[in-house]
Amino acid sequence: MPAGLPAAAAPRVFGVAVTQAVGKVASGRLRVAEALRAGGAYHLLLWVLHKVSAPLGEFGCVAFFARELFGSVPDPDVSPGIAVSWASPDEIDRLVAGYDGARSAETLRERFRRQDRCIIGVDDRGQIVHCRWLATRRAYIPECDVDLVLGPREAYFYDGYTRRALRGRGIDGRIRSTIFQKLRADGFERVYSYVRGDNPVGLKAARRWQQPVTSLWYIRARGLRPLVIGKRTIGLSTFETAGIPPAAQAAASPGRD
Ligand SMILES: CC(C)(COP(=O)(O)OP(=O)(O)OC[C@H]1O[C@@H](n2cnc3c(N)ncnc32)[C@H](O)[C@@H]1OP(=O)(O)O)[C@@H](O)C(=O)NCCC(=O)NCCS
Repeated sequence: MPAGLPAAAAPRVFGVAVTQAVGKVASGRLRVAEALRAGGAYHLLLWVLHKVSAPLGEFGCVAFFARELFGSVPDPDVSPGIAVSWASPDEIDRLVAGYDGARSAETLRERFRRQDRCIIGVDDRGQIVHCRWLATRRAYIPECDVDLVLGPREAYFYDGYTRRALRGRGIDGRIRSTIFQKLRADGFERVYSYVRGDNPVGLKAARRWQQPVTSLWYIRARGLRPLVIGKRTIGLSTFETAGIPPAAQAAASPGRD
C-alpha cells in the first residue's frame, strides 16, 4: 500500500492504475490498427520505428508537392454545399473549433500576424469544416528547421485540416481546387505544399492533383539542430536556414494531425 494512504483508499488507487494501464493498451492497439489501415505494413513499420527511437531523437522525411497553375485546374465533383472563403483574424474562436481544438488560438493569431491567409470551407449551418493556410513569402518547415523562401509568383499552402467527423467526403479536394483557382486568378504560376512521410492519408490527398517534386530527409538528435539531406531548391524557391522568430516557428504546420 502506498505510504500515508488510508487502508480504504488502496483498492481505489490500484483500480485507477489498472484502468489507466488497460486504457493505454487499448489506445495503443487502436493506433496500430489505424496506422495499418491508413498506410499498410510500410507505414506501420515506420510508426513503430518512430516510437522506439523517440527517446533519442527523431528522423523521417517530408515530401514536397507542386501544382503548376497554367492550363486547367481540377473541378471537384463532390462536397456540394460547402462554401469557400477567406477567414478573418476576428474569427479565431471559430477557427480553433474548425481544427477540433487541435491548434491553439495563439498559434493561429501568429499566422495572421505574419500575414499568412486562411481559407475555410463552411457548411450550410455556418460551421467551419476545413481550414488551410497560404503563405506567399516564406514558410517554416519544422521537421527540418528550415524556411522555404518562395520565388516570384510562387505560393505555399499548409496545415490543411478537415474536421474529424467529416473526413473522406471530398472536402479537401474542394478546398485544394479553389486555392488553385484563386491563386491563378491572382497571377501565381505554381503552388507547393508538403506532407510528412508518416502521413499516408495526407500523401494520398496531395498526390491526387499535385506532383511530388522533392523530399527532405532529417535526423534530429534530442536538443540538436537536425541534419537535413536533400535538394535545396524547388522551382524558383529555396530552402534556407530558418530566419523567423521562435513564436512564428511554433505556429508552423505540423504536416499532419
Ligand atoms: C488529409 C485530410 C486534410 C484529408 O481531408 P478530407 O476532406 O478527408 O479529404 P478528401 O475526402 O478530399 O479525400 C482526399 C483523399 O484522401 C483519401 N482519404 C480520405 N480519408 C482517408 C482515410 N481515412 N484513409 C485512406 N484514404 C483516405 C480519399 O479517398 C481521397 O483520395 P482519392 O481521391 O484518391 O479517393 C484530412 O484527413 C485531415 O484533416 N487530416 C489531418 C491533418 C492532416 O494530416 N493534414 C495534411 C497535412 S498538411
